[in-house]
Order: sequence, then structure tokens, then C-alpha cells
Amino acid sequence: MASDTPMIVTLDGPAGVGKSTLAARLAGELGLAFLDTGAMFRAAAYTLGEGAWDWTQGILQQKLGDFDFSLRGSGKDTQLLLNGQPLPEAIRSEEAGRWASQLAVVPSVRAYMKMAQIFLGQTTALVAEGRDMGTVVFPGARHKFFLDADPDERARRRCLQLETQGKPADLSTIAASIRQRDDQDRNRSIAPLKPAPDAVVVDTTRLTEDEVLEKVLGLVRG
Ligand code: DC
Repeated sequence: MASDTPMIVTLDGPAGVGKSTLAARLAGELGLAFLDTGAMFRAAAYTLGEGAWDWTQGILQQKLGDFDFSLRGSGKDTQLLLNGQPLPEAIRSEEAGRWASQLAVVPSVRAYMKMAQIFLGQTTALVAEGRDMGTVVFPGARHKFFLDADPDERARRRCLQLETQGKPADLSTIAASIRQRDDQDRNRSIAPLKPAPDAVVVDTTRLTEDEVLEKVLGLVRG
């Protein structure tokens, strides 16, 4: 990679593993912006609506042509904008997550997202988190991490997070949704969720957020 290319750190892993929290904290420590690529898929799914995954490739391409993602700020304060506007809170629902996972199997959607993400990484030094950052979008990234954790532990964390936000949370529903998304994200034919061959795999099941941050930071700085 040329030395004048912005530094990229990739963080991949399944739903509920804590990528977004770690990406924001890591970006803060390293003075980079963070890119939540799941939010890009969620925003697309939420904006296009339920069933968009059944539209023709041509219509999807045309609709996505009106999308323009950009980044503002850095560290924890990084904001991802769609057509100049912050993304709505509604994209964070379990339903929007399932729609995003369904839309994410469509080739024209993946092609658009890859192009938009590469474009952002060409101008901004990033902690980029998602499913295929280290394998497909930024294969030449300087540092690559793959976070994993037991699915029940991920469901428990997600439940706790929702409860903290005062939102309703049912552990068994969330666990089922996480397993369904794992299955869909790992088994799709294009850009399936898997560690890049040169990624460091971190099992976070028995680690606190601080311990994960410390480990990853140590490896980036070391
Ligand atoms: O990380 P998340 O839960 O916000 O992501 C929502 C969905 O978007 C996820 O289930 C699959 C899809 N996604 C993807 O296919 N590739 C990415 N780089 C990020 C997310």
C-alpha cells in the first residue's frame, strides 16, 4: 500500500459482538474517524423499505444512485451522513437489522456499498467495521481484526444495551434474531462473514469492553 494512503484498521464480526462500541473507542484513541458500514446497509434498507431485496438489479442501482454517504468529524464524534443528513435512530431496530441483512445479499447493493466505502477510505483515515472490511473492501488495510463471541453472550449484551436505553428487550427473541442473521451473513455467496487470512481473531466472550480495547490497541500500537 502506498504510504500516502490513509491508514485503515478493519474490524469485522457477527451481529452483537460489540464492533460499533469498539470502533468508536478505537477511533478516539487513534485519532481516526470510524465507519459503521452496518449503518450504511441499515440506512439503505430503512430508506428503500421492506421487500426492496426483491426489486430488479436495475431499479436498485437507480435508487442507490441517489444515495451519497459522507463522514463528518472523528473519534467518538464521527457522524455518518446520508445525503447530508444524520441517519435516523429507527435504523437501529432489530427489524431494520434483519432487512439490512436481507438487502446485503443482493449483488448490486454490495457493489454500491463497496464502492462507497472504498471512496470514503481513500480520503479519510478510518476504523472500518462490518462483515467484509478485511476480506473484500480493504484487503490491503494495515491492521485487521475479527471479533467473535458466543451467540448467547451476544444476545445477552444486546438485551442489556436495549434495557439501558429504556427499550423493550426479550432475550429469546433477540437470540433467535442473532442466529438468523449469523446464518444469513455467514452463508451468502458474495462477501460472506469470515475472518481475513491475515486478521487477528479476538474472542470477546469472556472479555470486558475495556479488555478488548486494550488488546486491540496494544496490537495496533505495538
Ligand atoms: O453491523 P450491523 O448489525 O449494523 O449490520 C446490519 C446488517 O448489514 C448485517 O446483518 C449484514 C449487513 N452488513 C453487511 O453485509 N456487510 C457489512 N460490511 C456490514 C453490514
